[in-house]
Amino acid sequence: MFTGHNSKFWDERYQESEYAYGIEPNQFLTSQINRLKPNTQALVVGDGEGRNGVWLATQGLNVHTIDLSPIGIGKAQALAHKNQVKINAECADLTNWNWLENEYDLVVSIYLHFAADVRQRMHQLMLKSLKPNGLLILEGFNLGQLQYQQEYDSGGPKIPEMLFTPDILRQDFSDGKILELTETVTDLSEGRYHNGKASVIRLVMQKAPNFKSV
Ligand SMILES: C[S@@+](CC[C@H](N)C(=O)[O-])C[C@H]1O[C@@H](n2cnc3c(N)ncnc32)[C@H](O)[C@@H]1O
Repeated sequence: MFTGHNSKFWDERYQESEYAYGIEPNQFLTSQINRLKPNTQALVVGDGEGRNGVWLATQGLNVHTIDLSPIGIGKAQALAHKNQVKINAECADLTNWNWLENEYDLVVSIYLHFAADVRQRMHQLMLKSLKPNGLLILEGFNLGQLQYQQEYDSGGPKIPEMLFTPDILRQDFSDGKILELTETVTDLSEGRYHNGKASVIRLVMQKAPNFKSV
C-alpha cells in the first residue's frame, strides 16, 4: 500500500530557488482573517516552504510550523527572515510527532494529504492539539480533482484514497463543530504546482469546549 511521499520527494520538489507553491498565502486562509487573533498560538502542519506560516506570523500570531522536508524548512525560515517575522519551523514527520493536547488556538492544514491508513488519526490529532474552542482551517483537494488533474494538470495526489470528500472530513472531525464546509471548483494560481481549474474542499471547524480525546 502507498504510505505517502517521503522527505526525499519533497526535498526534490523544493530544491529549486523558486517557491513550488509561491510565496503568497493560500486564499482561503486569508479569507478567514476575521477569525484570527494576534498573540495566539498557531500550528501549521505540512507548511512546506512556509508561505502560510509566514503570513500568519505577519498577522501577529505565534507560529509553529512543521514539515517533513529540511529544504522546505530552510526556505520557510528564509521567507520569514525576508518578511521580518519569526516562526518556529520544525522538521518532523507528523505521523511520529509528539502531538500535545490543548496546545494551539489555531491549526492550519493546507493541501496536506496523507495515505488512507493514517489520515483519520492525523485529523484526530489535529483536533486534540487544539485548545477548547480552538479553530482548524483546512483546504485540500476533493475527490473530483482526479478529473481536473487529467484536464488541467492542476495538482494534487493522483491516488483517490488520499483525496477528500465532505463525508470523509465530517467523519474525521465528527468531534468538532463544523462552521464551514464547502466543495468548490476554483482557479488555482499557487506557484508552479497548483495551477489551473481544480476541485477543492474548504473546512473551518471549532473544537468543542467539552472535547474528550480517546
Ligand atoms: C502539497 S505540499 C503543501 C505545502 C504547503 N501546505 C502549501 O500549501 O504551500 C504538502 C506538504 O506536506 C508535507 N508533508 C506530507 N506528509 C507529511 C508528514 N507526514 N509530516 C510532515 N509534513 C508532511 C510535505 O513535506 C509537503 O511540504
